[in-house]
Amino acid sequence: MNVSILGTGYVGLTTGVCLAFLGHKVTCADADEGKIAMLENGEVPFYEPHLADLITEARCNLKFTTDYSQAIPGAQVIFIAVGTPPGPNGAPDLKYLQSAARGIGENLSGGFTVVVNKSTVPIGSGNWVGSLVREAFEQRNGRKSNGNFSVASNPEFLREGTALHDSLFPDRVVIGADTAQTGEVLYTLYRPILDQTFQPPPYLPRPEEVGAVPLISTDLASAELIKYAANAFLALKISYINEIGLLSEKVGADIAQIAKGIGLDARIGTRFLQSGIGWGGSCFGKDTAALIATAHEYGLEMPIVNAAREVNRRQRERVVDKLLGELRILKGRTIGLLGLAFKPHTDDLREAPALDIARKLIERGARVKAHDPVAMERFKREHPDLEVLCCETPEEVARDADAVVLVTEWPQYREMDWEAVAKTMRTAIVLDGRMVLDRARMSRAGLKYLGLAC
Ligand SMILES: NC(=O)c1ccc[n+]([C@@H]2O[C@H](COP(=O)([O-])OP(=O)(O)OC[C@H]3O[C@@H](n4cnc5c(N)ncnc54)[C@H](O)[C@@H]3O)[C@@H](O)[C@H]2O)c1
Repeated sequence: MNVSILGTGYVGLTTGVCLAFLGHKVTCADADEGKIAMLENGEVPFYEPHLADLITEARCNLKFTTDYSQAIPGAQVIFIAVGTPPGPNGAPDLKYLQSAARGIGENLSGGFTVVVNKSTVPIGSGNWVGSLVREAFEQRNGRKSNGNFSVASNPEFLREGTALHDSLFPDRVVIGADTAQTGEVLYTLYRPILDQTFQPPPYLPRPEEVGAVPLISTDLASAELIKYAANAFLALKISYINEIGLLSEKVGADIAQIAKGIGLDARIGTRFLQSGIGWGGSCFGKDTAALIATAHEYGLEMPIVNAAREVNRRQRERVVDKLLGELRILKGRTIGLLGLAFKPHTDDLREAPALDIARKLIERGARVKAHDPVAMERFKREHPDLEVLCCETPEEVARDADAVVLVTEWPQYREMDWEAVAKTMRTAIVLDGRMVLDRARMSRAGLKYLGLAC
């Protein structure tokens, strides 16, 4: 099929490249000329494992442009995958969505086109996008659009760091559409994924347990709400274990064992039950805020979702409190942060806990050093205001530091020669913000181990 993707960020580019790999003809359009120039040169504008390899493999089916008049006419399916960042009152800012929808309407021509909201958008956005496309088409062409397009919702559930895996082997595909014809087009598009009939590349082998992928075929509003409800649930699962972690610390219990003991109950599941600094990233904070804002429009409160947000905010403060408890004074101290990205295997810094923690430490007069395997260049570019000294190696972060905090659980931090590290520190203290370091090993290495929940 001829497919266009508007927005070549983490979601749009991944979707476009996967569809091109499956044999569709894909045009990826972005408003950012710099990004498109990089993509045309074979460079990927952000870090995502194996994305560059898959682009190379699918290159013959891929085009990149900034020009909607190259991307829209003749496309059978157009995905909108632009950003929907949080606005001032919690509801997402929809200006990029609006401009993409207008651009589609102005350039629509040819046969029947399905316009798909893949961006996470508030309930009712499907209808809104439909009206914007129709209006722009009619203004440009001076005639009615007469059913030459329809709008669908196809929320995205990929995780940065495993985006390709999640797109090729998803837990489910959700399609919200108001007509059978629309659903049918997307069913045809996704068929190789739904039936798992494609040959995966060697670096992304199909997991043994993956069989046919379930399709949830529903109306627009339900598809839109599924996305928000799923993210809010994951967020509150994390906050729940962090709340239990607080109590566990007080009573001298072991939060790792508690999480295991809870999670092995098949009704609960072990994932997202790792206590620590809590969530960051572009989705959970924004999507929980948006859910609350939507509920308010209907006169509803969302006490559970609100509480999950509050617990998450508190976890970041706990890092500073723990350091204060140990060092008493932070002014003049040097604190090292291991990890800047909001989670391992990505360079995404949106709402990363490391930023908040660095800011709080600097406010208290501490000097902050940091390392991240892939996010340091982006950090320097996007946060020139934050006075953090970026170090080439994690060992350099620890040298002469009064404490190091493990903020992002990159695997290499676990494998460091902690004994050698301890000898170079001013005071050998490690605060394990993700509860992934081995306490006994840290003690043997000569470090005082502090866990966020112990
Ligand atoms: N990042 C994730 O893990 C993730 C997962 C699921 C869903 N989502 C949702 O997907 C959407 C996109 O997220 P992202 O992380 O890929 O965002 P992103 O910021 O990485 O990418 C958005 C891209 O859209 C481009 N853009 C903006 N306006 C445009 C326009 N009018 N036409 C063409 N391009 C335009 C920007 O230049 C940017 O490259 C959001 O709604 C997000 O909530 C994200």
